[in-house]
Amino acid sequence: MKEASNYVAAIGRGLEFMRDGLPISSRLIRETQAVLLHSGRGTGKQPGAFRTQQVWIGGTRLGNATFVPPPHDLVPDLVADFERFIHREDDLPPLVRADIAHVHFETIHPFLDGNGRVGRLLITLMLREAGRLAQPLLYLSLYFKQNQEDDYRLLNGVRFEGGWEAWLGFFLPGVRDTAGQAADSTKRLLARIAADREVIDRAELRAHALTVRRVFTFIQERPVFTVRTATENTSLSQPAVDRAVRTLEGLGIVREVTGRKSRRVYVHERYLAILNEGI
Ligand SMILES: Nc1ncnc2c1ncn2[C@@H]1O[C@H](COP(=O)(O)OP(=O)(O)OP(=O)(O)O)[C@@H](O)[C@H]1O
Ligand SMILES: [Mg+2]
Repeated sequence: MKEASNYVAAIGRGLEFMRDGLPISSRLIRETQAVLLHSGRGTGKQPGAFRTQQVWIGGTRLGNATFVPPPHDLVPDLVADFERFIHREDDLPPLVRADIAHVHFETIHPFLDGNGRVGRLLITLMLREAGRLAQPLLYLSLYFKQNQEDDYRLLNGVRFEGGWEAWLGFFLPGVRDTAGQAADSTKRLLARIAADREVIDRAELRAHALTVRRVFTFIQERPVFTVRTATENTSLSQPAVDRAVRTLEGLGIVREVTGRKSRRVYVHERYLAILNEGI
């Protein structure tokens, strides 16, 4: 949970930079890393700063490591190279560029920790920068986690044998499948909302109908909510929201999940079920 919400915050930070017209840069990368490691794995390991010591990957010491990234004193220059590569004017398709850049970044391994997480997030930011993603809706982490063995093996294949084709053959289908799944879930979420709205429209709600619709609109952004958050976000009175939520509960659209008498939490259940698939 922490990691996912850090990811959302970090991508928000990256997009903020871009909205200000700034390109992906060493500073953006460091700031994003600091947000990603704000809590959870790697907190306290020099967040926001490039490493100042030698590291190794896989293994218990330098001598038995799977891969030894470059010495730390080279990192700032190597990241500058990386920046030049991702902004180079040539005819590489943006996806292929992001794909090559990912190996490039993971191989520099500029941080003490969080390199995997930052590297995966950078793919989304690069595609966004290239104008290929209107919203940061490509979340590749699941694919990489599910195929971690292949990921590591093929990264090392590039490093030791120049195995770019095999790497592309791993990465590109991952993007295709992940994007396809995201588009599919989105369509089904929209269909879910349309079906629920129809239930609301068909119910005999009379004067109450407008309030229920307003609360339902809010729920589309916050499928887990309390009467209080709904009240704060709809400019309706609390008793009105309370009544609307009970109506939605009665229609089978939301469900209370705590069983408590106070501070009750409601969920838009079938919507969440779609989001949760495959996770
Ligand atoms: N055995 C290995 N072979 C090749 N690369 C590896 C291996 N172990 C780790 N890596 C690389 O190092 C990255 C992990 O680095 P680091 O621990 O700094 O990042 P993280 O964000 O904490 O990790 P994760 O990717 O597990 O979320 C991996 O994503 C991968 O690129
Ligand atoms: Mg780590």
